[in-house]
This record gives sequence, structure tokens and C-alpha cells, in this order.
Amino acid sequence: MRVLRVVVGLSTWGVISCGDNPAVPFDGGNAGSGGSAPGVGGGGGLGSGGDAAGGSVGSAGTGGTSGAGSGGVGAAGIGASGAGDASGGGGGGQAGGAGAGASAGGGGAAAAGGGAAGAMAGSTGTGGSDGISLTAMKTAAAYVDRLIGAAISTAHLSDPAYAATAAVAFNFATPENEMKWDATEPTRNVFDFTGGDAIVAFATGNGMKVKGHNLVWHSQLPSWVPAIQDATDLHNAMINHVTEVAWHFRGQVIAWDVVNEAVSDSGGLRNSIFLQLLGPSYIDDAFNAAHAADPDARLFYNDYGAEGMNAKSNAVYNLVQGMLARGVPIHGVGLEMHTGPTDASPSADEVAANMERLGALGLEIVISEMDVQICTSDVTTQSARFHDIVADCVGAPTCTAVTVWGVPDKYSWRNGQTCATPRPLLFDDNYAPKPAYTGVLDAFSGR
Ligand code: XIL
Repeated sequence: MRVLRVVVGLSTWGVISCGDNPAVPFDGGNAGSGGSAPGVGGGGGLGSGGDAAGGSVGSAGTGGTSGAGSGGVGAAGIGASGAGDASGGGGGGQAGGAGAGASAGGGGAAAAGGGAAGAMAGSTGTGGSDGISLTAMKTAAAYVDRLIGAAISTAHLSDPAYAATAAVAFNFATPENEMKWDATEPTRNVFDFTGGDAIVAFATGNGMKVKGHNLVWHSQLPSWVPAIQDATDLHNAMINHVTEVAWHFRGQVIAWDVVNEAVSDSGGLRNSIFLQLLGPSYIDDAFNAAHAADPDARLFYNDYGAEGMNAKSNAVYNLVQGMLARGVPIHGVGLEMHTGPTDASPSADEVAANMERLGALGLEIVISEMDVQICTSDVTTQSARFHDIVADCVGAPTCTAVTVWGVPDKYSWRNGQTCATPRPLLFDDNYAPKPAYTGVLDAFSGR
């Protein structure tokens, strides 16, 4: 695991005393008296957990035809590299056992798997296609100490091929929508962690780490938030939300996107409800509250359109530099990377330059939401784009992860946006790995 030394001063901020029963935050209260906060430094990067082990046939969980498996999360049975059949299965836990036969050559046989009851990933194996191992990408990523992630959605976990592909091909997960404010606190101070818990169970049951996404964002807010008109009221609601959500998922996520998309496209701060009522300090306050609730999580600022060198990325740079100078516990920057296929905007060189200056601040960097729409292009050009951006990450000492924003093209959020079928991801509608998959694999492999 890479150990980054994040050079930020110690600061003092509210320390929450968290008792055994966490669900008593302080809507309207204060965050406790400021103690001396632990240093932000140390802690290492996102790292990449070891066992990407491609190769062997996955050991099957003890599933059962009866579905009598007892709780827990079934381990994924991964069959890779020429293994014939793989059988995976798990007890009746939420994540079930994804049985996937990813085979090099010879067409992987379908995996039998899935304890019956409650198994979300089940019986369909993802057969290897064209000799491409579905574990090769994450194995190559782990070899260079990077995580390769996908946005995971509970809406699709009941699709066995979806669950199997996600479990086998990736070692990192971001909930696509399940941890956002409208999902987690639809009514004020009434929290719902069902979706987020399901993502965590699926991911951790399959050896994937999780990044929480996100705590404060102008979008996907429940309607009661923008209805607030009083600054103190909104401040308290925000601190309460950040605290409750970060506390609930402490120890289960390795990182959080704390503040999302707070910079406007022209370079100032976005004119959100938070800026209007609270002023720019809401960003620092959100990070301090997240750190107090989960001191072990790596805390990120995440945005789009700030990947290369431009007015917006300059503004992001200035924002995070200022936060570091003020001793705010920020550890990294997420570059979303929703782009087209060309290398013109932003170019891979520009992205590398931006990564270099952010890294020089001591910050970790992740490519957080990559997709490459190909409305007017093709899968070969798309592959080159994925390759070049992932190569940027491999070449940047503090870049620790690349996450793609979805698994198969058919479930991409981009569908119908830029064109009807922008096909922006690494897997086609039948879960066959596309040239883009090989592009990512090659970049992690130094090719
Ligand atoms: C998107 C999801 O993919 C969609 O399902 C949802 O309808 C809207 O949000 N930036 C972000 C992500 O930080 O949370 C967004 O995800 C895409 C843009």
C-alpha cells in the first residue's frame, strides 16, 4: 500500500463524542467542544487491497439449493484463466455469491452459484469472451497499487450477470445514488441507509473497497433542504446530515466525496443554496464534520470539468490549496472524467499536468466517474482514451484509483443524454469486455 504523507497542519475542530448508540446526532445542536484534533496526515492512500488473485477457480461459498445459508455475505466464486466451470455460491446473505466463470480460451462455462435465498448474484456466470480474463484488469491495477472501481447501483444487483461482472472485474465500488442526500435523509432527521448498506454488503462481500458518494451536493437534495431559509438552520441540517451519514458508514467506506461539484463552470464557487446561505465556509465545515465522524476515511473534493488545465481546475486547485492552508482535513481530489473520445478536451497531457500540481500539494487523486461517450466515434478510439487517462493515473505518484461510472453500457446514466446510446463504459450490453477494457488493462500493465 502506498503511504502518502499529507502535509497539512494540525487544526482544532469539534470532536464528536460518539457513544455506542450513534443515532443521536445533533440537529440543531453543536458539534461538541473543540478538542485537539488528530493530525490529518499519515493514513496512507486508498491503497489497493491485495487479493485480486486472478487465476484459480474461486472457492465456492457453502450455498445451498435450499437457500438455507446463514446470513452473511457470500463470497464470490471467481473462475478465471482457463478454468472450466466455476461454482460459486453463498449463504443467503444480501450479496449472495456471485459465481462467475471468466475464462481465457475455451469459453468459460457458466458458473453455478448462488444460495437461493436472498442471493442477489446468482446463477449466471459471465463467460469469458475472446480469451479475456475478467480478473486481469483488477489484477494489473493491484500490481501497480491502484484500485479499479465502478459505480454500482442497487437497481441492477438483481441482474445476475451485472452482479457477477461487477464482483469479478472490479476491486472498488462507489454507490451510484444510494448514499446521496435524497436517498439517505429524505425527511429531515429520518435516515434511510438501506441502499447504501446493500452496496456496502455487496462490495465487501466480494472483496471490493467502497468510496462513499456524497455528503454535500447541490443536486439530488430532498426538497426540504432548499426550502430552508435560515442560515443557522441550514448549517445545522448540513452538519447533522454529514455527521449521521459519515458515522453510519464509518469503517465501511475507505473514503468520502465530502463536497461535490461546488465550483462553477466559470471558476467561482457554484451559486448553490449552501453558498447563498452559509457562504464559502460551508465547505470547510462539511469536511471538518466528516472527519470528526469518521477520522479514518480519506476525504475528497470531487468535481467535473476540472480534469485538465482550465479556469475551473484552477479554481479547484485554489480551493483545496486554501483548505490545506487552513488545516481543513482534505486528503484528495476526485476528477470525474465524463468525457468524449478525443484527446483534445482535456488532453491526457493536460490531465497529467493537473495531477502533478495537485499531487505536489500532497493530495491524493482519483479518477472518480470516468465514462467516454462515443456518439460520433468508435470503440477503438474510446479504448485509446481510456488507456491514456488510466496511464496518467499510473504515472502520477499520488493517483490511487480509477472508477468508471457504471458496468455495462445499457445501464449508463449517459444514455439519452449526449445521444441515445453513447456506449461509454467497459462492458457491452451482454457484459462482454469491450476494447476499452483492454485499454485499461494495458495501461495498468504499463503497455
Ligand atoms: C448521476 C447518476 O449516475 C444518475 O443515476 C443520477 O440520476 C444522477 O447522478 N456527477 C456525480 C454523480 O457526482 O453523482 C452523478 O451520478 C453524475 C455526475
